[in-house]
Amino acid sequence: MKYFIVTYGCQMNVHESEKIAGILEKMGYECCQAREEADIIVFNTCAIREGAEDRVFGNVGNLKKQKRKNKDLIIVVCGCMTQKSQTAQKLLNTFPFVDIVIGTFNLPKLGLYIEAVKKGRQLEILEEGDIDETLPYKRTSGDNAWVNIMQGCNNFCTYCIVPYVRGREKSRKAENILKEIKETVETGKYKKITLLGQNVNSYGKDIEGGLSFAQLLKEICKIEGDFKVSFMTSHPKDLTDDVIDVIAGEDKIEKYIHLPAQSGNNRILKMMNRSYTREKYLEIIDKIRKKIPDCRITSDFIVGFPSETEEEFEDTMSLVEKVKYDSIFAFMYSPREGTVASKMEEQIDQDVKNKRVNKLLALEKKLQRESDKK
Ligand code: SAH
Ligand code: SF4
Ligand code: F3S
Repeated sequence: MKYFIVTYGCQMNVHESEKIAGILEKMGYECCQAREEADIIVFNTCAIREGAEDRVFGNVGNLKKQKRKNKDLIIVVCGCMTQKSQTAQKLLNTFPFVDIVIGTFNLPKLGLYIEAVKKGRQLEILEEGDIDETLPYKRTSGDNAWVNIMQGCNNFCTYCIVPYVRGREKSRKAENILKEIKETVETGKYKKITLLGQNVNSYGKDIEGGLSFAQLLKEICKIEGDFKVSFMTSHPKDLTDDVIDVIAGEDKIEKYIHLPAQSGNNRILKMMNRSYTREKYLEIIDKIRKKIPDCRITSDFIVGFPSETEEEFEDTMSLVEKVKYDSIFAFMYSPREGTVASKMEEQIDQDVKNKRVNKLLALEKKLQRESDKK
């Protein structure tokens, strides 16, 4: 019996697909290279922008023929998109051949749903879930090992669906993280450890008497072996001096920070609920440049947030010019149902968003050339 996993979205999802692979292999399934050969196909979905969801609907729809040929084929859709029960229901209604639809918190029970599928379609969306320390995983990213340090997000940026589909912040116990990294490094197969969380800088805030993110980094660096540590994502409001100091002082930590700014304009930042200003952001960049002169810095930006004017967009352009990022991601704002920003008046026309994103991407190309030269 063979499995095939299709992954959308962020590194968190890539790592979660490694857990899906772990669960399936434990059940006796083997990995295969083409979906046509598979007995079970899993779509691990993302809800961050509409485009991501459209692709899932398209690709799941394309399986109709394969299912007609092979009645025993099991099709699973899970992840952030199906965590929204309305979308889950729509998927079940649109595609009668989909067998299992579950959310982000149901993963530990995946094996049970697969066993039960003979009795009928499985649909379950749990509201919250604890971190399961017992899930097996199969690392699939070369010499890089993803290590989850926390799940969820408490920030509720007004445009973002993540807090609704991933729940509140929950940190893993430091001892479990350190044990996982130690065992991973000891295999000798992994030279890179990438710590994952929606907002890694608030690591530990939910554990009384636990380590802070800076302390966790220090402990990780004490682990013996030849490896480098990086992490994502940092939120500017929580990137404290002690974290910058640890990055500067520890050889094992990559000199790289992904620090999404989202906008260079204070009114838009406020409407986004980002809790920092352009000035505060630039202050942090200054500190990083002073303490870690060779640090690579990258960022995410959203253009066309509701009511964003041309001048306000130009503030984003000027911030990007000023910081001279090594690279940036630029996204057109995509309204997500249930978020605050999706209900705001003055949604921006698609062609304006297109123009702005192209302008920002042209700037990104220029920066990229300069960074490559460096
Ligand atoms: N936790 C990370 C981001 C996760 S989402 C952080 O806070 O930085 C990755 C990126 O997708 C975000 O940085 C943002 O730029 C973009 N994004 C999130 N919601 C979006 C939306 N509704 N429309 C367009 N881009 C969005
Ligand atoms: Fe979304 Fe903001 Fe949380 Fe990042 S910090 S996941 S953008 S709500
Ligand atoms: Fe997408 Fe979920 Fe990641 S919405 S970006 S897969 S946390």
